[in-house]
Amino acid sequence: MGRLQGRRIVVGVGGGIAAYKAVEVVRALQQEGAEVRAAMTPSAMAFIQPLTLEALTRCTVLQDVMSLGPDKTIDHVEWGHWAELMVVAPATADLIARLAAGMGNDAVTSLALCLERMPLLCPAMEPRMWSHPMTRRNLHTLRDAGAIVVDPEEGPLASGRSGVGRLAAPATIVERVCHALGPHDLHAKRVLVTAGPTQEALDPVRVITNRSTGKMGVALAEAARARGAVVTLIHGPLTVPVPAGVVARPVTTALQMLAALEEELPRADVLLMAAAVSDWRPAEVAEQKRKKGADQETLTLVANPDLLMSTRHLNPHCVRVGFAAETEKVGEHARQKLERKGLKFIVANDVSQADAGFGVDTNRVTIIRADGEEHLPLMTKTAVAHAILDRVLR
Ligand code: CTP
Repeated sequence: MGRLQGRRIVVGVGGGIAAYKAVEVVRALQQEGAEVRAAMTPSAMAFIQPLTLEALTRCTVLQDVMSLGPDKTIDHVEWGHWAELMVVAPATADLIARLAAGMGNDAVTSLALCLERMPLLCPAMEPRMWSHPMTRRNLHTLRDAGAIVVDPEEGPLASGRSGVGRLAAPATIVERVCHALGPHDLHAKRVLVTAGPTQEALDPVRVITNRSTGKMGVALAEAARARGAVVTLIHGPLTVPVPAGVVARPVTTALQMLAALEEELPRADVLLMAAAVSDWRPAEVAEQKRKKGADQETLTLVANPDLLMSTRHLNPHCVRVGFAAETEKVGEHARQKLERKGLKFIVANDVSQADAGFGVDTNRVTIIRADGEEHLPLMTKTAVAHAILDRVLR
């Protein structure tokens, strides 16, 4: 499988002699499995015909800022939401200047303004243009805003001169694209994540819940999505938004989470059980608000089912990962849960630490398997999520 399997990339072609090499760039990206579309500036079309790129990409080439799609949608806006990255090749001095100024007066620049991330620029131009202070300044501005620049190479140029200004080799460009987009090693895998606390009602006003915010589970869903997985997130009340591109199944109680799991688990390849499920629920839910009165109140709680245990039989092929939030004897307690719940591994953390556990953006976890354990350093929850996914893939 190509390293860019299923990645959505637009190649933005500028008007320079190297425009013909955009064809090779498109081919090289496709060979890695990417879905490629092309956009051209008017001057690019003076060098090569859109037809060539249309035939190669099997898609209309975006040529005009005013063009509308079949449903009268605005093309450059729609494409901006479709693409994960735009590779501008060749990026001429003029195109770089217009991108740096935030202009949107052609198909390539208007699309660049509609993308979530800054483009990957592959400049190609005469050495004097490349070293010109205005070009340097514009590239500096673009880099500052997050653009990646694949520097041109040295060699003979169309003008007959020689120097730095040749478009980087397609293989170099592909390398940089792979690096920019990160691994897509969970392509089309179905990853089911649970996140957040559950809430158990006492009456119409009050609930029993816990301190989970859902950040770790959301980070896992986002990381799996970025690596190409089809992600479903079953979540209790969250304090953070559900990431784009993830199917959300909001629930409130542990029993609702169980019902959602029973539906989703049979088709999952991976289950990441990050939710902090309430172990108990009130034996009775009062229909009306409970009134204060006595100095002491006794609540009767009944145990909720253990969701990992009670869904264990539903999908023997699924890689099941659990989490253990502990306040003492972290390793010992987590290892017991690993065995009891029949997990591939368990991610244990000491939630009594200020920089790990509930509500914060960092975590310090230990990954415990039947045959050993790994202590990871303090990391962002996003980095922890990727570390967990790396181990799922192993
Ligand atoms: N879990 C579950 N069902 C529950 C409680 C927890 O599936 N009713 C899952 C959690 O999502 C987590 C793992 O089991 O992946 C461990 O949860 P944790 O709360 O640490 O442990 P418990 O099994 O609830 O045990 P204890 O409360 O005694 O620590």
